[in-house]
Amino acid sequence: MTSVLLTGIASLVTNDPSHGDGKPGDIGELRDAALVIEGKRFAWVGPRRDAPPADSAVDLGGRAVIPGFVDSHSHLVFAGDRAEEFAARMTGVPYSAGGIRTTVAATRQATDEELTANVARLVAEMRRQGTTTVEIKSGYGLTVADEARGLALARAFTDETTYLGAHVVPPEYADDPASYVELVTGPMLEAAAPHAKWVDVFVERGAFDADQARAILTAGRAKGLVPRVHANQLGDGPGVQLACEVGAAAADHCTHLSDADVDALASSGVVAGLLPAVEFSTRSPYPDARRLLDAGVTVSLASDCNPGSCYSSSMPLCIALAVREMRMTPAEAIWSATAGGAASLRREDIGRIAVGFQADLAVLDAPSYLHLAYRPGVPLVAQTWVGGRPV
Ligand code: NIG
Ligand code: FE
Repeated sequence: MTSVLLTGIASLVTNDPSHGDGKPGDIGELRDAALVIEGKRFAWVGPRRDAPPADSAVDLGGRAVIPGFVDSHSHLVFAGDRAEEFAARMTGVPYSAGGIRTTVAATRQATDEELTANVARLVAEMRRQGTTTVEIKSGYGLTVADEARGLALARAFTDETTYLGAHVVPPEYADDPASYVELVTGPMLEAAAPHAKWVDVFVERGAFDADQARAILTAGRAKGLVPRVHANQLGDGPGVQLACEVGAAAADHCTHLSDADVDALASSGVVAGLLPAVEFSTRSPYPDARRLLDAGVTVSLASDCNPGSCYSSSMPLCIALAVREMRMTPAEAIWSATAGGAASLRREDIGRIAVGFQADLAVLDAPSYLHLAYRPGVPLVAQTWVGGRPV
């Protein structure tokens, strides 16, 4: 196995508690650091003066290095866009889940090649911005064949695929949602499960209620899929409590929370996924990250990239918004966008720069991770490495 030594790292965010104070959320920053990659994994991490020899060396010239972003929530399998809907929203039309049906119609019409090209384009866009792992949901097909093909196409880009047949009730079932839930828990699940790791439900007025969602998540689990939930996005609701009840990996959005919701997240260990680029793009109030962090909840940050509520694939944007608008510290935001995403996806091999972890990282054209929040909108990611190689 060949090895490469990276030196000239002014600031290295490791997320390794052994380099910090050992508290949860500590980013374990090392100054004037170096690291060695052997094959696909980190083999050594420490101060530059102690660096061992390697087959080759790269001097990063005083840049910062952070773990690659783990984007734990996206909807990339779709056709078309909804730029007009966005423009109308900016004049005061409120966001509603109804727009999802516009994308469903376009997605059903699209060829496999068109859908694959769209996913490839967006994954490439994410890579350029430092994302090394991405979760991709279905949810714009909403027929047995279209959900299965969306997941099969997404699987070529990531192992983190999520069956979201329960995104909304499609128009052909508008008068009979119970039959749609039977489809989602029956033949559609059967066709989707071989291509998915996760099952998700949009729990919201106008989408699915707690009983429908419980049935879908339970059926998914019986097929080996692990639950995650779109919870409490547009208003108060039962999503967070349901996520905690079924032991979901994540409750994402968490924009409208009661005290009981925060307590349930803290005691269950369900990761609260915050998606601030959605609030930015829908001009909605941001979730209260401070309240969650102070209660001891594990928080992840993700893009939610989709053509409706948020057509941004940028984790650096999420970090800037989390710091500026949600009172997260820059260190908390970096942790949530990397190790927090790994926790959301229940991955113990990514999200840290530590011996044995997958060698996924981003090199910043900046002396410190602080610049991600300090210089919003500036393309600071100079290189992205996945599995030990620049991509
Ligand atoms: O996570 N909330 C539901 N789904 C997406 C939005 C999808 C759309 O508007 O097309 C979300 O925000
Ligand atoms: Fe979403």
